Amino acid sequence: MDLLLLLGALVLGTVSAAPPNFVLVFADDLGFGDLGCYGHPSSLTPNLDRMAAGGLRFTDFYCTSASCSPSRASLLTGRYQTRTGVYPGVFFPSSIGGLPLNETTIAEVLKTRGYSTAAMGKWHLGFGTNGTFLPVRQGFDHFLGIPYSHDQGPCDNMTCFYPDGKCFGTCDQDTVVVPLMKDDIITEQPISFIDLEKSYSDFGVNFIKSSVKKQQPFFLYYPAHHTHYPQYAGRGAAGRSLRGPFGDSLLELDDTIGRLIETLRENGVLNNTLVFFTADNGPQLSLMSRGGNSGPLKCGKGTTYEGGMRMPSIAYWPGTIRPGVTHELASTLDLLPTFARLAGAKLPDVFLDGVDMTELLTNRGKSKREVMMFYPIHPNKIHGLFAIRLGKYKAHYYTEGNGRSGSTPDHNCSISLQFHHPPLLFDLEADVSENYPLNVTERPDLQDVLEQIKKVKLQFEASMVFGESQIEKGKDPNLEPCCRPQCSPKPQCCHC
Ligand SMILES: *[C@@H]1O[C@H](CO)[C@@H](O)[C@H](O)[C@H]1NC(C)=O
Ligand SMILES: *[C@@H]1O[C@H](CO)[C@@H](O)[C@H](O)[C@H]1NC(C)=O
Ligand SMILES: *[C@@H]1O[C@H](CO)[C@@H](O)[C@H](O)[C@H]1NC(C)=O
Ligand SMILES: *[C@@H]1O[C@H](CO)[C@@H](O)[C@H](O)[C@H]1NC(C)=O
Ligand SMILES: *[C@@H]1O[C@H](CO)[C@@H](O)[C@H](O)[C@H]1NC(C)=O
Ligand SMILES: *[C@@H]1O[C@H](CO)[C@@H](O)[C@H](O)[C@H]1NC(C)=O
Repeated sequence: MDLLLLLGALVLGTVSAAPPNFVLVFADDLGFGDLGCYGHPSSLTPNLDRMAAGGLRFTDFYCTSASCSPSRASLLTGRYQTRTGVYPGVFFPSSIGGLPLNETTIAEVLKTRGYSTAAMGKWHLGFGTNGTFLPVRQGFDHFLGIPYSHDQGPCDNMTCFYPDGKCFGTCDQDTVVVPLMKDDIITEQPISFIDLEKSYSDFGVNFIKSSVKKQQPFFLYYPAHHTHYPQYAGRGAAGRSLRGPFGDSLLELDDTIGRLIETLRENGVLNNTLVFFTADNGPQLSLMSRGGNSGPLKCGKGTTYEGGMRMPSIAYWPGTIRPGVTHELASTLDLLPTFARLAGAKLPDVFLDGVDMTELLTNRGKSKREVMMFYPIHPNKIHGLFAIRLGKYKAHYYTEGNGRSGSTPDHNCSISLQFHHPPLLFDLEADVSENYPLNVTERPDLQDVLEQIKKVKLQFEASMVFGESQIEKGKDPNLEPCCRPQCSPKPQCCHC
């Protein structure tokens, strides 16, 4: 054991023989109110509920963007998307850019400590010329998955085990059908969604087993396609939940989580593995009863209201994390520094926005995080931050609805950009639904709060150097992944 690791172990109060393993599950478009353990009455999530009962459940955990690619970039780098250039919006199959290769991912941090690393599922941090931006170029030894969202290709004929044999909804047209990749090779195009979850689950199980056999610490990153639109499920889950396709998709994800935890147990590493579950952004409410649910939170995907960015989140590590619920502030940004600390790895030499939350996990200490910044899905230097949470207060400088959160009774989820001066101020402990702005004129004490928030905002924005936008680098249809690279006419010929 080297000195760094020994010090880490002493500080933690546990001297473990080996650095811990990490399993990180990132659900897609999942709401704060969607899991059984977060109060949903008809979702079926027995494995996640058991994880919550035996682990630490967060009530105040945030992602950094109400949209896929930027949220993923922050999770893997510990940096706001504005720094890494993963804005505005998301990557497309033909995008020229990707998460810059000089950014340091959690996988790259852990590689320095001899970890074996794998990603399975939805990448969505770029593909690029000859797969320049795939996980295997960003610190992952292995990858099985789709390089982007599964609705980013014609999928209207996707088969599910529903009475009409069809999944619900249509997807992007005029692009290649969705490919499945093993490392950087296309193995299927189009993909079979019915068998997909089983492939991931098998891949994850095999990866855990082979890492244990080699006595290598491991990091498994599973950004799931579930529960993103169009929801699908294979044989084991279709029709089994009470909630229809959304519930089935969630149940299939829950099954995989159960199988991964069972594999950890069977291989004797459950008590040396941190399993962390959270999601990339809030639910797509525009799907109405077929979308996810924000529970008590306002609006969903695409907005900087709580429903877009406060996420269900569970940390599970039997023997090390005491079961309970925490109301401390935490974020996806904090996972990189926390994993680094637990693994005894050095932090990358960059401006990090994340803070180490080891104390919070292992000793139920205070969070080092006091503020959370809210950028819109199309951030720019002129508007800057849309909102800031400081302690229990949240100030909105701008609010903007989004089509993905449309169709809800609250019209503020879909209206256009509004500037608020003074900012709309909410007490999130008293009014988590952001329904009742505080009247600052009547409460002089709140002037101080606003002053403090303003100071934090100025300080933070002075530190923010916007990275060159990777998404505005544009698209080139020739870059779309194709199993027969030289074929024509594209995209139809990319079919194997
Ligand atoms: C990566 O390279 C770009 C372009 O040279 C540079 O602007 C950026 O600061 C670099 N990022 C990091 C994290 O080093
Ligand atoms: C991409 O790969 C193909 C086939 O290996 C090669 O011919 C081509 O030069 C590569 N393109 C770039 C930009 O590296
Ligand atoms: C879907 O099915 C329709 C009708 O069967 C067919 O015309 C269309 O080409 C199919 N689309 C794809 C992407 O396979
Ligand atoms: C984990 O459990 C095994 C037995 O299953 C035990 O030998 C080992 O000491 C435990 N490790 C820790 C860190 O508690
Ligand atoms: C909702 O929208 C109205 C304008 O239509 C605005 O006056 C009000 O402050 C908004 N409420 C919230 C909570 O954003
Ligand atoms: C805030 O309180 C003041 C003083 O009671 C009142 O005049 C004003 O109308 C209130 N503002 C709002 C937006 O309710």
